[in-house]
Amino acid sequence: MQTTIYSINDKTIKKAVELFNASEVVAVPTETVYGLGAVGTDSVAVKKIFEIKGRPSDNPLIAHVHKDYDISKLVYIEQDYVDKLIKAFTPGPLTMVFNSKGVVCKEAVGGGSTLAIRIPSHEGCQKLLKALDKPVVAPSANLSKHTSPVTAMHVYNDLNGKIEMILDGGKCSGGIESTVVDCTDKVPRILRAGLITKEMIEKVVGACLIAEHKSSDKVRSPGVKYKHYRPNCQTALYNENEIDLAIKRYDKEASEGKRAFIMCRDDLKGEFFGKNLLLLGKTEEQIASNLYDKLLEGEKIADIIIAIAMPDEKNINLGIMNRMRKSCE
Ligand code: TXA
Ligand code: MG
Repeated sequence: MQTTIYSINDKTIKKAVELFNASEVVAVPTETVYGLGAVGTDSVAVKKIFEIKGRPSDNPLIAHVHKDYDISKLVYIEQDYVDKLIKAFTPGPLTMVFNSKGVVCKEAVGGGSTLAIRIPSHEGCQKLLKALDKPVVAPSANLSKHTSPVTAMHVYNDLNGKIEMILDGGKCSGGIESTVVDCTDKVPRILRAGLITKEMIEKVVGACLIAEHKSSDKVRSPGVKYKHYRPNCQTALYNENEIDLAIKRYDKEASEGKRAFIMCRDDLKGEFFGKNLLLLGKTEEQIASNLYDKLLEGEKIADIIIAIAMPDEKNINLGIMNRMRKSCE
């Protein structure tokens, strides 16, 4: 199959809608990462997503809808705080998990009884969802376990020959996947950290729990094991107070003829004078936005990426560290 990248506009949106309605999958831009979409009520199309990605069938997908879509057609909204979350954070990088009404097919939700809903803010994506006017289930548009794509070219590199159409909506501004919040209980619970933080949710609804593993335990990991978000090269992760160890590691790898790169925040670059660098930016937002892009750039030019951890796990740093740790495990 020939894979073509099309710039997203009214004409290509029309073509994408035709493909969606013909049980095909299409890669679409969002403000977080690119998604591999299919109509959520179409089990034939949904099964293609799992096959193409090599994704375990019990890992549920997020249903994406436009901002005027009545989500109560898909799910039971049982908690009062949901309205506040919707008003404050949508359209945007927030995914809410509800009890499902079963409209979206069971293949999309791993046979479970809940459904995750997201209203993306990316303008082209909104236009597409509006034109289709159906829920689009979409995981990140990468092969399972690989780093998530933040450009159309990243999608192409993973899925070339496996899908017909990639809609190019530019580089994703957010850069890490949406915050997933379980909204079935009295207090919202973050299942996956992201750009909408615990602190932001607490401000709007009072309380917010974190279900995610938030360990500050040992971050260094020399492993070459293939896991979630991993680039196709060796990786290692060092804490900020282990810069001397990171430098030693770099020198050792380089002395063995390996192309080593340090991946760090801009303000640390003075510590690594004369070394190959992948710079992530200054602010938390910039770092989140650049993380996958730099990992995917790194896998092309480096034998090993030596990453330096964020100084804490507050606010957006929690989501960043969650990805950094997994991608460098
Ligand atoms: O930003 C994003 O969320 C991107 C873009 C494309 O929208 N999508 C994305 O999808 O990251 P995916 O499939 O790579 O990750 C979805 C996450 C997984 O951790 C999945 O387990 C969780 O959301 N999830 C989906 N449905 C769920 C449900 N019903 N209950 C609990 N977790 C769910
Ligand atoms: Mg993913």
